[in-house]
Amino acid sequence: MSSVARKIRREQDRTIGLVPTMGALHEGHLSLVREARRMCDVVVVSVFVNPTQFGPGEDFEHYPRDLTKDTALLTDYNVDYIFAPPAEEVYPRGFSTYVTVEGLSDQLEGASRPGHFRGVTTIVSILLNVVRPDFTFFGQKDAQQALIIKRLVRDLAFDTEIIILPTVREDSGLAMSSRNLYLSPEERQAAPVIHHALAKAKEAFKDGERSGHRLTEIVRTMIEAEPRARVDYVNVSDAETLEKTDKLDDRPTLITVAVFFGKTRLIDNTMLNSAKKKEGVGNGSR
Ligand SMILES: Nc1ncnc2c1ncn2[C@@H]1O[C@H](COP(=O)(O)OP(=O)(O)OP(=O)(O)O)[C@@H](O)[C@H]1O
Ligand SMILES: [Mg+2]
Repeated sequence: MSSVARKIRREQDRTIGLVPTMGALHEGHLSLVREARRMCDVVVVSVFVNPTQFGPGEDFEHYPRDLTKDTALLTDYNVDYIFAPPAEEVYPRGFSTYVTVEGLSDQLEGASRPGHFRGVTTIVSILLNVVRPDFTFFGQKDAQQALIIKRLVRDLAFDTEIIILPTVREDSGLAMSSRNLYLSPEERQAAPVIHHALAKAKEAFKDGERSGHRLTEIVRTMIEAEPRARVDYVNVSDAETLEKTDKLDDRPTLITVAVFFGKTRLIDNTMLNSAKKKEGVGNGSR
């Protein structure tokens, strides 16, 4: 165990908050850090570009890394520990134990990126075991990930409460993402179409549209009208089970999208019927 991990272990009598990240920090990450700082005595931010959640041919090698800049940002937020372990420490030679949340991990992002969530649930399990946080913070931008992590924590009885916070957006509506750094100026100008398309579907829902198929088409048509965008998927599903829904009712429903701009793949989502269960706010699963 690294010296940082050992120091964190000595804090176990205080309330610990963990914010797992892959670095290249932006306002989305910082919103999680701010909430962790508000709720916890000790704030740990992990910065680890996790190799096991990238597929072959994905952007692991090119993923933006700037630990110096990240450290400066986190220092401004009075973060207590930055946990940025080397890959060999997380995955020692002979590493062979993986954690999989079945079912939920196979759809949507999981279908487009086979093995992705197995990597995510494995690294999160390791981080939870090392840090032993009371609260662990994730963003609603990665809605499927949020559901999977909640399931993981419940099923394997991890002693932490998962807090999900709303998606932070640029003024243009574009969801903040480290991968936005890959976009050319033209692509960046085009990318807010994702949010606009989701907003249009939400509006149609408010006006009474209850067909999952037609809501999907509204989103797809608007995104495809942007020549720089290529839709990977648009999906309307039950916000808890992720099962595809065609006839919407008053249950919380999630519209999720993944869109390519050149080689850059961006995701976003919006929640329908979230009034009772406020969008993006964590419901504890301890
Ligand atoms: N715009 C955002 N608003 C709120 N939370 C976010 C946002 N973007 C990322 N997060 C959250 O930050 C945490 C770390 O995510 P990660 O480091 O993968 O950043 P990212 O911006 O999603 O990067 P990438 O786009 O490359 O996947 C996750 O819980 C993720 O949901
Ligand atoms: Mg991410």
